[in-house]
Amino acid sequence: QTKRMTPAAIEAMKGTRPIVSLTAYTTPIARLLDPHCDLLLVGDSLGMVLYGMETTVGVTLDMMIAHGQGVMRGVKHACVIVDLPFGSYQESKEQAFRNAARILKETGCDGVKLEGGEEMADTIAFLTARGVPVFGHVGLMPQQVNATGGYRSLGRSDKEADKIRRDAKAVADAGAFAVVVEGTIEPLAREITASIGIPTIGIGASPACDGQILVSDDMLGLFNDFKPRFVKHFAELAPVISKAAETYAEEVKARTFPGPEHTFQPKK
Ligand code: KIV
Ligand code: NA
Repeated sequence: QTKRMTPAAIEAMKGTRPIVSLTAYTTPIARLLDPHCDLLLVGDSLGMVLYGMETTVGVTLDMMIAHGQGVMRGVKHACVIVDLPFGSYQESKEQAFRNAARILKETGCDGVKLEGGEEMADTIAFLTARGVPVFGHVGLMPQQVNATGGYRSLGRSDKEADKIRRDAKAVADAGAFAVVVEGTIEPLAREITASIGIPTIGIGASPACDGQILVSDDMLGLFNDFKPRFVKHFAELAPVISKAAETYAEEVKARTFPGPEHTFQPKK
């Protein structure tokens, strides 16, 4: 068994080659993605992707732990990070440590991700000083949707850009091993990447980021209702699944499935 990538190894990749990252939520998908990825994120996007929630706000710590355990069973190579869900870390650094420790102990993953910049710096420093590797997340922060009112890309005004710059620096100074930069104008993500010492992992950000991440169900084309600008479909699985269900239904109705080869016969 090969040793998995560590947060320290991810951090050390800055300036070498782009860091390859995707989300994963289940054992079989993790197994397929793992050989090709440096980092797999068990993102709280699973609330929307797997459970049909409108936002990530309703995702619970127990859901994250269950999916984190599933992903860990499928991974031999990539570093695995699990998102701290909304409400599990914002109250205090002690609350954040308690819940991060549960994630590490119950899943065996390598670290946690949390959203927030300057306002989370003390928490990030508290966790990293106590043995919890932290992946930061600045720019568009989906857990803030109730306060911000939507999912638009950020950094067009000087005020907004300054805040994101300060957030990224605060997260890096607090000891995070890497930071997701989500949904910003491209030059801002590029500038932040050049100005901080830890890897930036972009989503709707810039090709200049130190790595990229996408929601795997998005890049696999499992949804065909809505494709944001930053998503590229590297496969079109939705029509493949629809077609399989259609053919199955036809064969069941026509009694051509199951065939003799799918049935068990008594011994002669
Ligand atoms: O929850 C998630 O999938 C994420 C990534 C898209 C960065 O936070
Ligand atoms: Na997330």
